Formats: sequence, C-alpha cells, structure tokens
Amino acid sequence: MSRITLSRFLIEQQRRDGTLPADLRLLIETVARACKAINFSVNKGALAGVLGEAGTGNVQGEAQKKLDVIANDVLLDANEWGGSPAAMASEEMELPYHIPGEYPKGEYLLLFDPLDGSSNIDVNISVGTIFSVLRCPAGVSHPSEADFLQPGTTQVAMPYTLYGPQTMLVLTFGNGVHGFTLDREFGSFVLTHPDMRVPESTKEFAINMSNMRHWEAPVQRYVNELLAGTDGPRGKDFNMRWVASMVAEVHRILTRGGIFMYPRDARDPAKPGKLRLMYEGNPMAWIIEQAGGMATNGYQRIMEIQPSKLHERVAVFPGSREEVEIVTGYHAK
Ligand code: AHG
Ligand code: MN
Ligand code: MN
Ligand code: MN
Repeated sequence: MSRITLSRFLIEQQRRDGTLPADLRLLIETVARACKAINFSVNKGALAGVLGEAGTGNVQGEAQKKLDVIANDVLLDANEWGGSPAAMASEEMELPYHIPGEYPKGEYLLLFDPLDGSSNIDVNISVGTIFSVLRCPAGVSHPSEADFLQPGTTQVAMPYTLYGPQTMLVLTFGNGVHGFTLDREFGSFVLTHPDMRVPESTKEFAINMSNMRHWEAPVQRYVNELLAGTDGPRGKDFNMRWVASMVAEVHRILTRGGIFMYPRDARDPAKPGKLRLMYEGNPMAWIIEQAGGMATNGYQRIMEIQPSKLHERVAVFPGSREEVEIVTGYHAK
C-alpha cells in the first residue's frame, strides 16, 4: 500500500465520518507546514545564527531564546492569512493576537507553545512545538482573553511536533493518537505510528529530582516509594529519565509508557505549578488520555480545570494509568 501522508490521512478522516471539518483540516495542514519551517531553523542551528539568547523576556518571566521568538513569528505568519483562526495565543505573548483586518477570520482559537524545552536548544537536545485548538464562542468576532478560558475538555484538535533525531508530528482530534514522521526529501509527514497507546503499567518515571525538597508530601511519598525499588511497597525497580522538554517526555510515554511529573513547588506557593495549563497541560493531557493514559494535577483531571487566566500554571501528572492513579490517590489522602 502506498504511504499515507498527513494530507491524505486528514482528507480521508474528513470524508469518513464528518468529525473533521474542512476548515479544521486546513488549520492542521497550515500548522504542519509552519512546523516544517521551524524544523528547518532548529536543524540549521549555529549555521543560521539562530542559537542563543534573544535578549528579551516573556510574560512567563523567562529569558527568551532566539528560537522561541523565531518559532512564534513563524506560527503567527503562517496562520494569520489562512482564514481558519479567529485569534491566537502563545506562551511568548502576553495578550491574544488578533487577525489583521485584511484577512478573513475563522472559527477557531489557536494556542501554542512555539518552542517547548528551549533550554535544550543550545545543547542540541530535542525540542518541540505544542498546539491546542479551541472553538471560538459563537457570535464573537473579536475574541478577548475571556473567550480563550475554556477547559481542556472543549479542545477540538491538538498536534505537537518533536524536533529530535527524527522530526515527528503527533496529533489527536478525539479519535485516537496518530504519529507521522517527516520525510525530509519529500517534505511530507508520513503516517508511521498509527493508534499510539500508553501501556497501563510502567517502570519508568520522569521528574526534576533536584527540586525534591520543595515538593508537597504526597509527591515526596510517591517518589520515595519508586526509589525504594524491589524492597519498597511497589516491589519493583523503577528507571528515571529527565529530558527537560515536556514534548520529548510525553512522546516517550506515548511510545513505551511512564509517568511525567512537574508538581507544585514550595519555593513559590502562589504558583500552582511551572507548566502552563493552556499551552502545555491541556493539550498533553488530552493526547495522553486519547492514548489510554491519564492526566491529573494531583487532585483532579487536568482537562476539567476551569482556567481563570490565559497564562495560568498547573501541576501536571500525565502518564500510564496505574501510576497516575496512585500519585493522585496520595493527594486525596
Ligand atoms: P518551555 O521551554 O516551553 O518554557 O518549557 C519548558 C518546560 C518543559 O518543557 C520542561 O519539562 C520543563 O520546563 C523543564 O523544567 P526544568 O528546567 O525545571 O527541569
Ligand atoms: Mn518558555
Ligand atoms: Mn513548554
Ligand atoms: Mn516554550
């Protein structure tokens, strides 16, 4: 059988059962095209002079890397004229981005983390881009921040791309999880990982252990039990990984299972976590759930949180069902 490109996959899906409207298909195609441009810059690295600091800061209080800014610009440019989004929001921009008056507006709100794991750029370790697509509320022609504040359960599509040894695009629109590998010579994403599933149980976890002393008691207890290995209550040895790119960690979990944790941190009690609900928490929770895994903030399903601001933070525990159930259970006690 001939190869199934992303375009063909989307068109066939659109025909099959009407779950993928034409304008949403177009949005995903546009996003995929933009990610090829980001991939090009990421790959060129020092040859294109794109490594290092941009010299600016973002609303998250982070120093921006040049590639954070480049990726954000590429995504705005690629999507503003296509007619699918009504507005966009990004980790790198304080306020929603409005479609310039000369272009038509569409029905969707496009949210993104233009470059996830950007501390890894200069050391040549995998980074990615994460998207969340929401529907613009009916009758709204100039979406405000409040129109973006929808729980993750209302997402209609979410792709992420991973710029690693292979460049991949993985997506769900509520119909399972499908992975595509970029064929650089042909310039197209090809279906290589249909129906990705997170194994229910695992022996692998991911957390930044250097913060252990700042975690809440349930997380300390859970990780201590993992570290106790065969002698502890879990009765098995666990392995640990920490890439520092959530997109790469989620991709590993989709491929071979595991649990990823970025808990709340006592250093900043006002912050419910480090990662962003709208650009990281919700889309990654949805794709993990769609693959049979589970994702909570320790206390509740991430996707059911009612956001109160665009750049809201959240603690995240996505991964294999068995592990997420245990750590969530410890929070309830
Ligand atoms: P971003 O690069 O988009 O700001 O996100 C980085 C996030 C996430 O990808 C990763 O898991 C985490 O920050 C790493 O944090 P530490 O540096 O604290 O380990
Ligand atoms: Mn950042
Ligand atoms: Mn990120
Ligand atoms: Mn980012």
